[in-house]
Amino acid sequence: MADLDATDAPATRDPASKTQHIDVCLTPAVEYRKRPGFERYDFVNQALPELALDDVELATSLCGKELRAPLMIAPMTGGVARAHELNLRLARAAQHFGLAMGVGSQRVALEDAERAPFFRVRTVAPDILLFANFGAAQLARGWGVEHACRAVDMIEADALYLHFNPVQEAAQGGDVDFSDVAARVRELCTGMRARGVPVFAREVGFGISADAARVLIEAGVSGIDCAGAGGTSWAKVEALCAKSERRRRMGAAFGEWGIPTADAIRAVRSVSQRIPLIATGGLRSGLDLAKAIALGADVGAMARPMLVAANGGDEQLAGFVADVLDELRIAMFAVGAADLDALRGTRQLRDVSHCDVLPAR
Ligand SMILES: Cc1cc2nc3c(=O)[nH]c(=O)nc-3n(C[C@H](O)[C@H](O)[C@H](O)COP(=O)(O)O)c2cc1C
Repeated sequence: MADLDATDAPATRDPASKTQHIDVCLTPAVEYRKRPGFERYDFVNQALPELALDDVELATSLCGKELRAPLMIAPMTGGVARAHELNLRLARAAQHFGLAMGVGSQRVALEDAERAPFFRVRTVAPDILLFANFGAAQLARGWGVEHACRAVDMIEADALYLHFNPVQEAAQGGDVDFSDVAARVRELCTGMRARGVPVFAREVGFGISADAARVLIEAGVSGIDCAGAGGTSWAKVEALCAKSERRRRMGAAFGEWGIPTADAIRAVRSVSQRIPLIATGGLRSGLDLAKAIALGADVGAMARPMLVAANGGDEQLAGFVADVLDELRIAMFAVGAADLDALRGTRQLRDVSHCDVLPAR
């Protein structure tokens, strides 16, 4: 590695970077050119679905908690006033629609207790399934059960997300020691299981492979978020936030790196049919959500689309979520799937990647 100068230090450690991430992620420049893979699949229309649209049931459960729909607000932010305001808006929507939600990495608040109040959302969302969050890179620095308990207690969370982001860390010049990480994950999972807190492993948007899923399941995670490529590219985010030209180039070089989300779902499911599976990365509609579930996910999550809608206010966010759920409901109706078990097991999803598609008029 070349020597780093002062401007080469990662921006992420600074709480001000939280607002910079928000601003950058509100622009389409952070999106992959690569697609998430859902476009390779089509549902086979059922002209006789043999059910009424109103009979379609979206309810499910995760970590022992009821969800009114299989949709999650993916972890994004916290730790500064603006991030808190957005998280409160997102949490109000989660409470209203009965969705799950995660907060962004709590590292800043675990290192500086004054940041903790800016992660709390329970006042407006007492009932939601809520995930705490910090990075697996911290395990090599000695973080473990104690930090995990503090993260969970800080926001009264039901579960913990441990995020894996080696490419993002390397591109930004951050924490790049992922050695012995599986053993440390095993220790963390054992400790948290004894305290009744499920640990879910997640990528941030480069995808979980079959090999990674196997290691994580053997280490004892309670669930996986395969967060794949095709939506927000975290290498592009880091390029756009970089303080030095060198870091900008590094982020740009890996801008298209990653496993498309549809492939990541199938990869995890090839290892385990039973592990609870959340799919994030490039879900942009209720139809994408329906395809993610038909491919094997239990719940689909969205980050950037939720952020953009939340930035427009409570009403815009509620309208967006309502549309996503209606699209999911209509897709299930039109394939004759009365509930999520039927959608997950459907034979009505076809790979159409070999078909010619007429260009849009
Ligand atoms: C503004 C913003 C901040 C994010 N911060 C985090 C984070 O702190 N921890 C994490 O696990 N993922 C974080 N993510 C990643 C998302 O949870 C998600 O995996 C990724 O953006 C892909 O989903 P999308 O295509 O729907 O945006 C963040 C995403 C956004 C848009």
